Amino acid sequence: MTTERPQTRPGVLTIEAYVPGKSAAPGIAKVFKLSSNETPLGPSENAIAAYRAVSAQLHEYPDGSASDLREAIGGIFGLDPARIICGAGSDDLLNLIARAYLADGDEAIHTTHGFLVYPIATLGTGAKPIVAPEKNFTADVDSILKAVTSKTKVVFLANPNNPTGTYIPFDEVKRLQRSLPAHVLLVLDAAYAEYVRRNDYEAGIELVATTDNTVMTRTFSKIYGLAALRLGWMYGPAHVVDAINRIRGPFNVNAPAIAAGVAAMKDTAHVERAREHNTRWLAWLTEEIGKLGLTVTPSAANFVLIHFPETKSRTAKDADAFLTRRGLILRQVTAYKLPNALRMTVGSEEANRLVVQALGEFLGKAA
Ligand SMILES: Cc1ncc(COP(=O)(O)O)c(C=O)c1O
Repeated sequence: MTTERPQTRPGVLTIEAYVPGKSAAPGIAKVFKLSSNETPLGPSENAIAAYRAVSAQLHEYPDGSASDLREAIGGIFGLDPARIICGAGSDDLLNLIARAYLADGDEAIHTTHGFLVYPIATLGTGAKPIVAPEKNFTADVDSILKAVTSKTKVVFLANPNNPTGTYIPFDEVKRLQRSLPAHVLLVLDAAYAEYVRRNDYEAGIELVATTDNTVMTRTFSKIYGLAALRLGWMYGPAHVVDAINRIRGPFNVNAPAIAAGVAAMKDTAHVERAREHNTRWLAWLTEEIGKLGLTVTPSAANFVLIHFPETKSRTAKDADAFLTRRGLILRQVTAYKLPNALRMTVGSEEANRLVVQALGEFLGKAA
């Protein structure tokens, strides 16, 4: 063996690989997985039927342009299907955007507690992730603008953000877009948009439609309940769509995902049920956990960020171990620079009540 061997491009080996949420608790039979922001309602029955119906056709390649799915999305959102691209999860699309617009030496901005895929996708291209400080666990437009240099090519903004659940109003998103240099691509990651119930929020469709440097990414993994299939979509200006179509895998979305995605998109009643469930239990969890004396960051999404004290045996790590022993799996968020917090997905009524009860016991405040 020689000492010379293939070398990665700059940055690759500085990546901390993404660690997904835990899904098991050793020795516990009944587990409630509240660590990956999946929907407790599961997928639409129609999506399951559509998925099954494809099973006899697994020998055939899928439609590489996912036309049926782009048309279904376009129909629901009133968008031109030609400006939509589907991907194997929005992760796929975020990475494609990074690959198309970033190169060695470029910079891409994300915020302090921003979604971890942004620095990973950035470093994979040889570019440098630049962190813009947040205020109150919330993206701050002025601090993003301050981080812009002549090397900036992309700004990634999750709105609402994971794992904080916070969002910025559409006016602020518009101000950000207006103030960025025209050559900087603004990526609005609206993975949780369907859950947001705020009058001043918009996912970004209008900005994409009216500007040349904004794209919006969305996912089927959250409210549509299709995380296992890996399905996402983006809406962008024609020139961005053209660029991404040139580099994406020719069959980057599989046939069962396309079929299930079309059915899920059209089952608006199921989406509405999931939204209603979330609205009710998000408020309940925020209030009940707050009553226990823990701070909960106000969330617009389908999860809450719970802050723990640093007191011995009361820390986030201690709480995580305590909850896991009861089959309640939350998410540690140290990798997001939040070592004193846990993120909890809004679960079923049973799961939500069990977590609040267990947290009460953990804090010695059981009823
Ligand atoms: C903000 C944000 N963007 C994107 C994603 C990726 O979703 P997908 O499953 O579509 O790759 C997630 C998933 O957790 C997320 O939280």
